[in-house]
Amino acid sequence: MAEGIPITRVEVPMSRINAIRSAVREVTHLGIMPDASRLATLDDAPPLLALLSDPAVHAPIYTLPRPLTEASVSAFIEDHLAERQAGEGLLFVRGEGASILGYSDIQVWPQWAAGELGGALHPSLHHQGKGARGAAESFAWMFEALHLDLICETASHENKPTQRMLDGLGFTRRGEVESTRPDGTTRASLVWEMTRADWFRLHPA
Ligand SMILES: CC(C)(COP(=O)(O)OP(=O)(O)OC[C@H]1O[C@@H](n2cnc3c(N)ncnc32)[C@H](O)[C@@H]1OP(=O)(O)O)[C@@H](O)C(=O)NCCC(=O)NCCS
Repeated sequence: MAEGIPITRVEVPMSRINAIRSAVREVTHLGIMPDASRLATLDDAPPLLALLSDPAVHAPIYTLPRPLTEASVSAFIEDHLAERQAGEGLLFVRGEGASILGYSDIQVWPQWAAGELGGALHPSLHHQGKGARGAAESFAWMFEALHLDLICETASHENKPTQRMLDGLGFTRRGEVESTRPDGTTRASLVWEMTRADWFRLHPA
């Protein structure tokens, strides 16, 4: 849980809130490409646990269950299926055979037309530009398919790849908040934001 985000909170009318919730309930893939990530199901718990168990994957992410077990990862997936029904969250995975090579965790605040993207790639795929490319496609999709006005992102002080990625994509730094992990421990999180207008100005289609 991240208290204090998004920093920018502009209430939107009920018609917009309803449209956002409906969009979240209806999507099945993150993006429109044939290889787009798909919604996670309970069957994904064992391969998702295998991906998340590597500290290079889980250490920077405050939203993951602790400890990581098949039961806690199943509960994490189940929570996201419930969030999807509420129109407030989505969990996607990208697989190859029986393995999961990446996941994306989207939190939506319909009342502010705002969202947050978290996730990770398998360490064998790090530092090849795939994270920044995938994140850029995902941000564009969140603005368009989920009808968001604002994306708010966080990263720890140590998470240089994510910091470089967000700065590089033109996000604006918005200070620092305290994030609480599911086990109650906390960490400082740097915060970035991007509006829909700024995104499409900086990244024209
Ligand atoms: C965050 C993550 C998806 C980035 O993916 P990636 O494919 O490794 O990143 P990219 O290759 O696209 O690089 C993004 C930027 O980080 C930089 N970078 C990558 N690895 C780095 C490292 N180990 N140290 C410092 N900078 C690094 C790249 O140079 C690039 O910056 P630049 O464009 O200014 O050169 C990936 O590192 C990951 O899964 N990490 C674990 C989970 C995580 O931190 N998730 C994000 C928080 S929710």
